[in-house]
Amino acid sequence: MRTVDDLLKVGVRGRRVLVRCDLNVPLSDGQVSDDLRIRASLPVLTKLLDGGARVLVAAHLGRPKGEPDPKYSLRPVANRLSKLLGRPVEFALDTVGESARLLADGLPDGGLLLLENVRFNAGETSKDDAEREAFARSLAQLTGGEDDGGAYIDDAFGAVHRKHASVYDVATMLPHYLGDLVRDEVQVLRRLTTDTERPYLVVLGGSKVSDKLAVINALLPKVDKLLVGGGMCYTFLAAQGHTVGGSLLEEDQIETCRALLASAPDKIVLPVDIVVAPEISAEAPTRVVAADAIPADQMGLDVGPATVRAFAAELAPARTVFWNGPMGVFEVDQFSAGTKGVAEAIAATSGLTVVGGGDSAAAVRKLGLDAHAFGHISTGGGASLEYLEGKTLPGLAVLGAQ
Ligand code: 3PG
Repeated sequence: MRTVDDLLKVGVRGRRVLVRCDLNVPLSDGQVSDDLRIRASLPVLTKLLDGGARVLVAAHLGRPKGEPDPKYSLRPVANRLSKLLGRPVEFALDTVGESARLLADGLPDGGLLLLENVRFNAGETSKDDAEREAFARSLAQLTGGEDDGGAYIDDAFGAVHRKHASVYDVATMLPHYLGDLVRDEVQVLRRLTTDTERPYLVVLGGSKVSDKLAVINALLPKVDKLLVGGGMCYTFLAAQGHTVGGSLLEEDQIETCRALLASAPDKIVLPVDIVVAPEISAEAPTRVVAADAIPADQMGLDVGPATVRAFAAELAPARTVFWNGPMGVFEVDQFSAGTKGVAEAIAATSGLTVVGGGDSAAAVRKLGLDAHAFGHISTGGGASLEYLEGKTLPGLAVLGAQ
């Protein structure tokens, strides 16, 4: 498995290097509202540009349906990328069409071209190998191919769990290298699966148990404690026989949660109190109730203060913590204290703390928490979960990194 530094040693001046980045960032009013992933992509891009490479960046944004959709254009990302890099960024109006080809051919040494959203092409995500390969071949051709010095780097950690053309197939068509971001993310996640320092605690939240079952099953035998909050805790509370009012509930998962609780009664820790309200709104009247006494006309929207204290006491001695998923509807101020309190307790532990991307990473920033207080904030939500589930991730496997 070769890295970007191996490529730089050979020399990149004048060579066209295709870099897959994860620039899937939230937009609001047409502007990038959170640029964590763009910033995380800068080190590799800067190294390559400093080395004189002609850099072509491929990335996706959202989930368009395989055809151009202005809502998902990467143009706002191009602007932010240019600002953060402090260099001009060319932007192609298509992925592998005339605009991309012309701009790729005209790139100067040390120039960067961002292609339009690769998911504007149906070949990117197609289940049909031939269709995906055809698109991947067009991407590879933008570099001139191997004979013309073309190379491919995967630095899109957040997308390594996708068997997509720009993540998987194109790596089979060009000399390929592991990006620094992917390397660093994998190094940290490995510490959560091998020789993990104990006590090892996992904090899970987020809305759906069904999304987290695979990771719960994979982690439960490995962890000392699993603390559960967020929308998913109500299905666990229901499995204990409590009524949960209008809270989020996955009826079809109650049996599964019951079996999980029975299999690890001393490991799974549930909230003891809940912040409830009749609806999700900044104006709704709230109160704190015992977790086994949620009124029928109320919904649980955050864990309560006693739960924060209980979770903090469990977390205090931890040497390794993995956190994925908020404890409540943190986007609304009055339901954010649980997520904030638990996040602070995680940050206060002395060992390795890993925030597993997605909503929890967004919560760290939205709630004004100090990002540096955490050991690692992953850029990959689904990717980090699938890694911890022990799945083979196509984007890593194709690079020989897993
Ligand atoms: C993410 O946001 O987790 C990655 O960018 C992958 O996006 P996807 O889930 O749409 O494939």
